[in-house]
Amino acid sequence: MSHQELADTGRGAAGGASAVPELGCGVAHSIAGQGWCVTPGFLASAEVEALAAEARVLDAEGGFRPAGVGRGQGLALRPEVRGDRIAWIDPNTTGPALRDYLARLEGLRESLNRDLYLGLFDFEGHLALYSPGGFYRRHLDQFRGAERRILSCILYLNVGWEPGDGGELRLYTDPAEPGRCEAIAPLGGTLVTFLSARFEHEVLSARRERLSLTGWFRRRA
Ligand code: OGA
Ligand code: MN
Repeated sequence: MSHQELADTGRGAAGGASAVPELGCGVAHSIAGQGWCVTPGFLASAEVEALAAEARVLDAEGGFRPAGVGRGQGLALRPEVRGDRIAWIDPNTTGPALRDYLARLEGLRESLNRDLYLGLFDFEGHLALYSPGGFYRRHLDQFRGAERRILSCILYLNVGWEPGDGGELRLYTDPAEPGRCEAIAPLGGTLVTFLSARFEHEVLSARRERLSLTGWFRRRA
């Protein structure tokens, strides 16, 4: 099944309108069923462009740092594993576009808790910039030190991404069949959600800079 078909089925029988409650239902439906969901057009392109512009200002101000692997004492720079630069989101210092997006996520969090009883308590996230050629090797988002992560939420901020640009997210959709995967293009406005403990995934290298906002709904500590 293609991503578009999945997204269409994900919108549910009520049919296609982009009202927020319905999107929440679509995500909940897919998460309850297969454990992951791709939602093209979660944000409109004007919102994507505004968010990307805020990210670029932050980058110009030196707000991004090379991303590490692991947590706490175990945190280490490992460019052979991951080559992006990240800026953790501080809800108190965000610009208006980021604030609006965090509000959208809050609505999604509430609807997922209502529909699936996931007990999602809060959100932590970062902007991530991959230079051309950058990648992130196959990994799980839930690991020692990050057990609170329940649902991974990745929003892409790349307007006009073309198939030849690369940079796909490879989501390994069947833990029983390690080679089976979906390739998802990081096209601006697409939201990818999946259960953090269940699905390994990787970021393939791209021919152009690749920007995303990646985060996790977490359970209470
Ligand atoms: C991550 C990650 C995927 C992507 O930051 O943990 O897997 O498509 N990102 O950017
Ligand atoms: Mn990841």
